[in-house]
Amino acid sequence: VPIAGVIGWPIAHSRSPRLHGHWLQRYGITGHYVPLPVMPEHLAEVLRAMPRMGFVGANVTIPHKESVLALADVVTDRAALIGAANTLIFRPDGKIHADNTDGYGFIANIRQHAPDWIPGLGPAAVIGAGGAARAVVASLLESGVPELRITNRTRIRAEQIKAEFGAKVVVYDWAQAGNMLEGAVTVVNATSMGMEGKPPLRVPLDALASGTLATDLVYTPLMTSFLQEAQARGCKIVDGLGMLLHQATPGFERWFGHRPEVDDELRRAVL
Ligand code: ATR
Repeated sequence: VPIAGVIGWPIAHSRSPRLHGHWLQRYGITGHYVPLPVMPEHLAEVLRAMPRMGFVGANVTIPHKESVLALADVVTDRAALIGAANTLIFRPDGKIHADNTDGYGFIANIRQHAPDWIPGLGPAAVIGAGGAARAVVASLLESGVPELRITNRTRIRAEQIKAEFGAKVVVYDWAQAGNMLEGAVTVVNATSMGMEGKPPLRVPLDALASGTLATDLVYTPLMTSFLQEAQARGCKIVDGLGMLLHQATPGFERWFGHRPEVDDELRRAVL
């Protein structure tokens, strides 16, 4: 019986067990997906033991997404570029394979809910430069955006992304964040602002043209004030829950042998 799980510290808040559990049940697959609370100092030991315990793979979440790269035997190019992994595959030869599917999930979510979106038509504007933003930047560049504008409260993190991701990246000052929305085809909130219990994102959206695709990585609440405001300006909006759902599909398929669907039934099961 294949077993997979999600490794984090803490882990109680993770929605991944509900997500994978729903798919296992829906497709009648004999398998398990369990939450695994693992302290940082125990990560290496736990990873070594997991394949011997019947695990076929795992998702990795905070605070292990970066440190797991040094413990894996094979790291995909995109995980290396992003500097973090969220999906592990324990291969039959004993090797640990680490990948990052967050960027895939980000793009798949937009494509599902805004099929007319053409990223190559103009600049993308990314607000935030944390771990999640790095996956978003990588996937937008791969999708052919002609220019990737980025701003962050702590400017140096945005500069670092420019240094690593190349010439298409243009850094805007946090105080001038509103300016980077001019002419943008895509705008993304990749900060944690707007999340329940946190202040809302306060970037002026006056320069946002109607028809722009606006998406948020925050999904608690589903309708952030950023998305509400963007919608009021005539933007096409896509909430952040679908990114969580879609990033899980490559792992599930590898571990359990069935390509799972992302639909409203799953959204209701996970919320
Ligand atoms: P994640 O992996 O979710 O991206 P992170 O790496 O801690 O988590 O990044 C959080 C992002 O939200 C960062 O862009 C952070 O800005 P800083 O780099 O300046 O910390 C942003 N963020 C969080 N709280 C913020 C706030 N109150 N104002 C502005 N930006 C904030």
